[in-house]
Amino acid sequence: MKIGIDKIGFYAPHLYVDMNNLAVARNIEPEKFTIGIGQEKMAIAPITQDPVTLAANAAVEIVDDIDKEKIDFVIFGTESGIDNSKSAGVYVHRLLGLNPRARTIELKQACYGATAAIQMAKGHIALNPESRVLVLASDIARYGLNTSGESTQGAGAVAMVMSADPKIMALEDQSSYLTDDVMDFWRPVYSDTAFVDGKFSNEQYILFFQKVWEEYKEKTGFGLADFEAICYHLPYTKMGLKALRTVLEQGTEEDQERLLANYKISTLYNRIVGNIYTGSLYLSLLSLLELKEDLKDGSRIGLFSYGSGAVGEFFTGIMQPNYRAHLHVERHTKVFESRTEVTVPEYEAIFDKTLPVDGSTVELDIHSDPAAICLSGMKDNMRLYINKLNSN
Ligand code: HMG
Repeated sequence: MKIGIDKIGFYAPHLYVDMNNLAVARNIEPEKFTIGIGQEKMAIAPITQDPVTLAANAAVEIVDDIDKEKIDFVIFGTESGIDNSKSAGVYVHRLLGLNPRARTIELKQACYGATAAIQMAKGHIALNPESRVLVLASDIARYGLNTSGESTQGAGAVAMVMSADPKIMALEDQSSYLTDDVMDFWRPVYSDTAFVDGKFSNEQYILFFQKVWEEYKEKTGFGLADFEAICYHLPYTKMGLKALRTVLEQGTEEDQERLLANYKISTLYNRIVGNIYTGSLYLSLLSLLELKEDLKDGSRIGLFSYGSGAVGEFFTGIMQPNYRAHLHVERHTKVFESRTEVTVPEYEAIFDKTLPVDGSTVELDIHSDPAAICLSGMKDNMRLYINKLNSN
């Protein structure tokens, strides 16, 4: 039985800062951000968007009435959870009006969370072939103003409906994965910004890629020639390239050209959104699928997932017949085109705006946020959400 991605949706908040302007404000040469890091625009979440609303906005564009009835498992991958007890997925379950006869959980392992969710969904569908699983990957990447990680922030979410006989991509059975206890990036529960050893994290990312890639080759006998493209977790778009370059010599000149050209296409969305942590790999996949118009049915795509701390995995999928008919290219082009640029001082003010932590009541201006689903306020330590489409 084929199992995989039946639908894929995406949402980024409507605000962004231009990386050239951020560089100038930080007394850094703009080329460091645009070429050295490889980022052009950074999505900024207004106070009316949090990981729950980002995920719900990504899901609302793909979940139809049949999905609402058939989804029996919601898995929310995030490392920016809003509650240590209640799963962010439960809010999304209500906001989308899903069938109550469903399991709903939240998964965390840095940027690896959504990959764990996908593998769990695959197992669930193998046992329950009629089932559909909603996988949500949603995060707001925060390192802090004037920090070395600042240029690698971002915000956004990817939502996927997984099923048997998927319309977009069937996952193959073989994968290789690895865990090692390393302190390259972490966020203690008392901090709303991440701590990071930047250079060490880059090294660990590449090391993990090399190890899982070698193991994958040993398990399957495949090599670079078997791949149309390899998508990477992209904390910034130069990162995957650094990893890819370390194995390129294993392929022919033609393999190298193909993989480099397709790598570039797979980074275009990430370049204008930034790091969305656990959704980044799937945003890169979406970029490849939506922007490479001649990607053929039957192509094998490699996926490298890395979550600091650290867990890595290499797995693969095969593009399904007529998959392009099931993408939402126009809608996503509109999401990008209708965004509003903010100045660096405006971005700093948004970054510093926080929700009350003393139980007080706050009502937020949801009219200045064009998203369908927004955080509308807080009361008695509870977040209040609104779905403008049905005022749920
Ligand atoms: P940094 O110290 O600001 O930058 O740290 P740098 O000095 O390393 O320079 C970056 C690149 O810009 C270099 O290129 C420079 O040469 C180049 P490279 O040698 O690496 O190819 N450069 C220029 N290029 C053109 N013109 C110029 C110029 N100047 C310099 N004028 C760093 C950068 C990414 C480390 C930092 O921003 C950071 O710590 N970010 C956060 C951590 C991170 O993203 N790590 C990635 C791997 S870990 C991961 O992916 C997991 C993660 O997503 C978290 C999770 O799992 O949840 C982060």
